[in-house]
Amino acid sequence: MEKPWSGRFSEETDEFVEEFTESVSFDRELALRDIEQDIAHVRTLHKAGVLSDEEAKKLVEGLKEIERDIREGKFEWKRELEDVHMNVEFELTKRVGDVGGKLHTGRSRNDQVTTDERLWLKEAIEDIVSLLKELRKALVHSAENSLDVILPAYTHLQRAQPIRLAHYFLAFREAFLKDTERFLDCYRRVDELPLGSGAVAGVDFPLDRHYTAGLLGFNRLVRNSIYATADRDFIAEYLFACALTGMHLSRLAEDLIVWSSEEFGYVDLPDKLCTGSSIMPQKKNPDVLELIRGKTGRLYGNHLSILTTLKGLPTAYNRDLQEDKEPLFDSTRTLRGSLFGMRKVIEGLSLRKDRMYANAGNFVLITDVANYLVEKGVPFRKAHHIAGAIVAYLLEKGKRLEDMTLKELKNFSELFEEDVMELFSPEKVADRRRTYGGTSREELLRMLEVAKKEEGLS
Ligand code: ARG
Repeated sequence: MEKPWSGRFSEETDEFVEEFTESVSFDRELALRDIEQDIAHVRTLHKAGVLSDEEAKKLVEGLKEIERDIREGKFEWKRELEDVHMNVEFELTKRVGDVGGKLHTGRSRNDQVTTDERLWLKEAIEDIVSLLKELRKALVHSAENSLDVILPAYTHLQRAQPIRLAHYFLAFREAFLKDTERFLDCYRRVDELPLGSGAVAGVDFPLDRHYTAGLLGFNRLVRNSIYATADRDFIAEYLFACALTGMHLSRLAEDLIVWSSEEFGYVDLPDKLCTGSSIMPQKKNPDVLELIRGKTGRLYGNHLSILTTLKGLPTAYNRDLQEDKEPLFDSTRTLRGSLFGMRKVIEGLSLRKDRMYANAGNFVLITDVANYLVEKGVPFRKAHHIAGAIVAYLLEKGKRLEDMTLKELKNFSELFEEDVMELFSPEKVADRRRTYGGTSREELLRMLEVAKKEEGLS
């Protein structure tokens, strides 16, 4: 088949080169955005007086027909035509005749491809932002239902201090809110039109780029034609936002995997989101969560991939840039699945409150015993030491803090009085943490109100 660029060539393209350089097998993902752009470009050429009324009409009609066929899965993609852009253009010419050859006037695939990508990415970000919102809402609901569920918070995976489970859910809601902000911020930079930049230096037809931007719904123009065609920083930035969101999802997944183990037994995952083992009948495996955790590796890989592709490129366009697409599509597909899956898990989680509560007492309360002494004037370091000695004593006796009598306590410090016993309650200890953002019931009620308002839930 004759290539659109074959004028200066005297040999047919090697079969291997066709296979190695093609992108249509994956960039057809951009097809609808490509046609949207084609139509806007036709209108801009028409406005510039480059196309007649008749020509513009014919081209737009042909493009809309092709669009219909693509939507209906009837379009026949040809590898010999390299990429989505040349496939569409070739088919257009086949359908409308020679005037099809005017479509690419004042345009290069260099500004075309990045325009498609920006159009595509704007939609992808909107979609991801709404998936993030659904997940945050699920977390806020879980928080509302777990205000009075007490468990130990862990640091170093050792029991640390009692918290209310709502606090934990709101922590992840906070993380996903920051992720959302990152996507929205990235969106502002994606939302700039490169078209009209040509191959690198701009276009020698009087194209009104502001007009094109209006047609395609771009907020601004990319201001420099070299930068417009050379850079993919907006993709790198997006892939970073995906990677970081993946990191949050992965940590949440890890907690829930550990919590669902028999050893912890803090949560039960819904059967419909788990799978069994082909050999061990007792198993109920948290595969969805494991894959959310595992797929984070891809999200990191895709981010590193684009950064590496970009780093050594001579300015401006190089074919290396074709390698930006698979990471872009893959991260988007992956993150969508993970966000959706995590929401289903959160919504289906059952809590084993007694198991959590059982682990929230004893030494988890000891920080507050030390602070009790501090309130009585003992310097913190000394109080810490006394409390440490109590832990050692209890470990040796095989007793729990709650079992200590006042008399025993007085052996460690004369300052202990009857009221120290009030600290032997995880919920009371949790409620002492009243600082802004802390785990007391009162503070959590306030935080919940804020979260609900921000999510439009109240
Ligand atoms: N398939 C190419 C890409 O994805 C389209 C742009 C090709 N431009 C060129 N001058 N060869 O980057």
